[in-house]
Amino acid sequence: MTAGFSVTAGAGAAGYDRVMDALAPPEATDAVLSGVVRPDDVVLDVGCGTGRATRAIAARARAVLALDLSTDMLERFAARGVPGNVELRAGDVTDPAVVEPRSVDLVTCLLGGLQYVQDLGTQARVVRNMRRWLRPGGRVAVEMFERSAYDALLGSHRLPLVLDGVHWWLRMDVSHDGQIYTSVSSVHRDGREDEAAGFTEVFRPTDVDEAFALMAGAGFESVAVQPDLANRGFLWVSAVTPENDRNDRNDRNDNDSHRGGRATPAPHEERNRA
Ligand SMILES: C[S@@+](CC[C@H](N)C(=O)[O-])C[C@H]1O[C@@H](n2cnc3c(N)ncnc32)[C@H](O)[C@@H]1O
Repeated sequence: MTAGFSVTAGAGAAGYDRVMDALAPPEATDAVLSGVVRPDDVVLDVGCGTGRATRAIAARARAVLALDLSTDMLERFAARGVPGNVELRAGDVTDPAVVEPRSVDLVTCLLGGLQYVQDLGTQARVVRNMRRWLRPGGRVAVEMFERSAYDALLGSHRLPLVLDGVHWWLRMDVSHDGQIYTSVSSVHRDGREDEAAGFTEVFRPTDVDEAFALMAGAGFESVAVQPDLANRGFLWVSAVTPENDRNDRNDRNDNDSHRGGRATPAPHEERNRA
């Protein structure tokens, strides 16, 4: 499988951080999280990256375990300062052993982190991992790239971007091969390509039905799929593990491919399985 997320040019993870702070400001992330994170929560933040969302989560939660595959991103996280209630962990979300079973109250995954895992069967395994890591009655809150939003972005775009009062350009090239989309972004000033940042994303966007089936297929209840709370072109997917969850199903299905039956909710309609 192609690496889902890679910093490809510019100032590395620091450049990514700077650009993303301009594109998806921390205040918007904090607004998204305000109704989600509870003061007593122990949270697992999957694909924490440089910690932009993790810091906002940590300010609202008891403790946060911040998981990411990329040591570059985690090093940048550490360089920017790690709040006292945050533990950084390098690891792959597809590996069930990377987090202790039943150890967290909430799993967050912001800005499409789940979809860098491009195979639907492996995504289903990741969602089963999330259920395994959650205590009974635990919650997930996942932002997923919406396919129609990326279909509207296919091709090359040049968008103005102001960084620290200076005008730059964000160049985005979006293409797809079937279900797998590639977005190559670079931030530059005229004639000085890739000076600030460059990153490539290879991911599998989703739609309402697929996102619902993914969560329901892993045994989550009260699955809701809604437009992104900050209107960033994502779907906001939330769900709860059963109160009497024994997680047997997760163990049985660990090596299975995706088995979730497709449900057919009306677009953006909240659905409850319970
Ligand atoms: C868009 S970036 C960071 C998003 C971050 N949550 C934020 O709000 O800025 C997505 C992150 O997912 C991480 N990632 C991709 N695949 C992963 C995997 N299989 N396991 C853990 N992290 C992964 C990447 O290394 C990257 O840091």
